[in-house]
Amino acid sequence: MPDRLRRLRRTPQLRELVRETSVRPKDLIYPIFVREGIRSPEPIDSMPGQFRLPIGAVGNLACEAYELGIGALLIFGLPSKKDERATEAYNPNGVVQNAIRAAKDSCPEMVVMTDVCVCAYTPHGHCGILGGTSTPQPPSSVSGRALVTPGATNRETEEWGSEVLNDETLPLLAEMAVSHARAGADVVGPSSMMDHQVRALREGLDRNGFGNTAIMAYSAKFASGFYGPFRDAADSAPSHGDRSSYQHDAANARHARLELLEDVEEGADILMVKPGLAYLDIIRMARETADLPIAAYNVSGEYSMVKAAAERGWLDEPRIVLETMTAFKRAGANLIITYHAKDAAKWMRGGED
Ligand code: PBG
Repeated sequence: MPDRLRRLRRTPQLRELVRETSVRPKDLIYPIFVREGIRSPEPIDSMPGQFRLPIGAVGNLACEAYELGIGALLIFGLPSKKDERATEAYNPNGVVQNAIRAAKDSCPEMVVMTDVCVCAYTPHGHCGILGGTSTPQPPSSVSGRALVTPGATNRETEEWGSEVLNDETLPLLAEMAVSHARAGADVVGPSSMMDHQVRALREGLDRNGFGNTAIMAYSAKFASGFYGPFRDAADSAPSHGDRSSYQHDAANARHARLELLEDVEEGADILMVKPGLAYLDIIRMARETADLPIAAYNVSGEYSMVKAAAERGWLDEPRIVLETMTAFKRAGANLIITYHAKDAAKWMRGGED
């Protein structure tokens, strides 16, 4: 045991030589919001520095990100129409499908990933289609009541029978993924947290000749307050209830591990943990559970907290962001999905500060 651990910290060169963990722009995945029917970028109030982009702006952005060395784009869409069957989600001319083509036309080398979930495409904002009767059963006095009542509270919907239907949602997710693959996506990311979403996508992709399209599974996706700014950005907040009947409980690591294992079995190519910073233990667990690449999603709330503090001069933003990314890598992540990607790639090129 060396009695002076400081020996190796004396100069920047020595520190560089013995550094255990590094982050490169290629490790970063940049999530973007693309909105149908707008002409110029719209700033997202809750996420300073991020925009809802018109389809026409996607090509340039793809090239810019590629030149910065960023590993991939992750596209989220805001359709101009929503309906109960999330029709726009698998429209061959939908917003995401067009955005994929725009990115690939301008920069064919850029890796393009997509989010596969219906919450931005349904009027109720849930991640699956609604219907059926849930347990517990409604009190007999109200059993004739409509399944979904506009403006109903969480308690009402739980007790009175609207339910996010798992198996009925799977074909929609598969169709959405196939339409993304057909438009040119390299990787599709099922994020609705329906059971067996990975298997449904793999089978759908294979059946349609997209055996080479990879799946990044949102395996350990927790029901989290940290998604708040995203729901504003993507206009995808649930109109009633919350997502706790399908996303993991923040208290449960072992249950998340079961889903990581299941997703490996069902054919996932990359496993994701989300959110990132409050879930470093889960990232480590994912690393130890599977030999697939692990992605950490540094989500909207984590981004906005740093931005808010930095705007007030309370935190040194580049330092905090690079430290956070190093922590993800140290915990075992290979890939980091982050809204800071463009800035971070620039800071990394600037060298050590
Ligand atoms: C879609 C989805 C969400 C996020 C990514 N995909 C929202 C949610 O689950 O409510 C959140 C990303 C972020 O907060 O940055 N289901």
